[in-house]
Amino acid sequence: MCSAILVTGGAGYIGSHTVVELLAAGYEPIIVDNLCNARREVLTQLQQLTGVKITFYERDIQDQAGMVEILQKHAIQAVIHFAALKAVGESTEQPERYFAGNISSSISLIQAMQQAGVNQIVFSSSATVYGLPKTLPIEETAPIETLSPYGTTKIVIERLLNDMAQFRNWQVIHLRYFNPVGAHPSGLIGERVVGKPNNLLPFLCQVAKGERPHLAIFGQDYPTPDGTCVRDYIHVVDLAKAHVKALNKIGTLEAPVAYNLGTGRGYSVLELLHTFEKETGVTVPYEYAARRPGDAPACYANPALAESELGWVAERDLAEMMRDAWRWECASMHSEMT
Ligand SMILES: NC(=O)c1ccc[n+]([C@@H]2O[C@H](COP(=O)([O-])OP(=O)(O)OC[C@H]3O[C@@H](n4cnc5c(N)ncnc54)[C@H](O)[C@@H]3O)[C@@H](O)[C@H]2O)c1
Repeated sequence: MCSAILVTGGAGYIGSHTVVELLAAGYEPIIVDNLCNARREVLTQLQQLTGVKITFYERDIQDQAGMVEILQKHAIQAVIHFAALKAVGESTEQPERYFAGNISSSISLIQAMQQAGVNQIVFSSSATVYGLPKTLPIEETAPIETLSPYGTTKIVIERLLNDMAQFRNWQVIHLRYFNPVGAHPSGLIGERVVGKPNNLLPFLCQVAKGERPHLAIFGQDYPTPDGTCVRDYIHVVDLAKAHVKALNKIGTLEAPVAYNLGTGRGYSVLELLHTFEKETGVTVPYEYAARRPGDAPACYANPALAESELGWVAERDLAEMMRDAWRWECASMHSEMT
């Protein structure tokens, strides 16, 4: 019998791609999502893509009794915990909402898991826990620092889960994502952005679609090869595959562990923009704007630990990330018009 994996936030961007990889690897994903940042149609798309009708609960993970019931009913082996609010800027405007939406809800989930006797969890953490990096590439042992309430929530949840490992014998893996971009090559699932995007590529795509006049590039005099900020963009399918590797490993853990998930290579804003233009044939007008406070000039991972311990490496390059992102944008634009 295949192991059932509870995927909180499984209808979201990274969660939906992970569900595809879980099925391909022989796991049975069970999705819990309150649809606060996802659409129900994702489930139809997932079924079309995988040929499987995936079990889905429209539920908030703060519904502790409901979560216990689901965990027990499906004899869940492990939880992959994506469900969270994720907009850094918004978190500085409404910190208390982020504390409730991320920390309180995770505590509720932890309690439900403990009650149901489920003690394996893979947690969606972020490179934001490193704050402004002091050395590059960033190792997992780098100092932890918060620059926003969102970052604080990731640090706090990592610590709570580490305590569950130490005092309740849980098995815990933190996956610290760098900059997820792209979409499934089928064009059926991808990142759905409502309103003004928080990240570079969704913004760039809106400009490419003519929804915005130009892309603002914040800062042109950083100490980087072309003066624009450098980030470690990683294809969402590579990221999704790392979750399967984490599940394969989790049962052997004796202590909680964090893995960087990035390519290990930084790309500048201009490099990304020019690659997008080359791969899609669409010109993207841009203008320089002032630096944003708190933006590190460069940020990229040392992903060696994930390679040596999980047997995982990112395989997709920037060109593939751009092609897949654009295919998804065009497909979703078309489906919204029809
Ligand atoms: N996308 C990124 O750039 C990025 C980078 C680093 C870390 N992360 C983390 O990865 C995880 C997934 O991110 P994503 O980009 O897929 O975001 P997303 O918003 O697309 O997915 C999160 C999903 O969780 C659901 N959700 C939120 N709160 C919930 C709750 N209380 N109960 C049930 N469902 C709830 C939302 O409806 C959504 O479908 C998040 O924890 C995020 O902080 C994302």
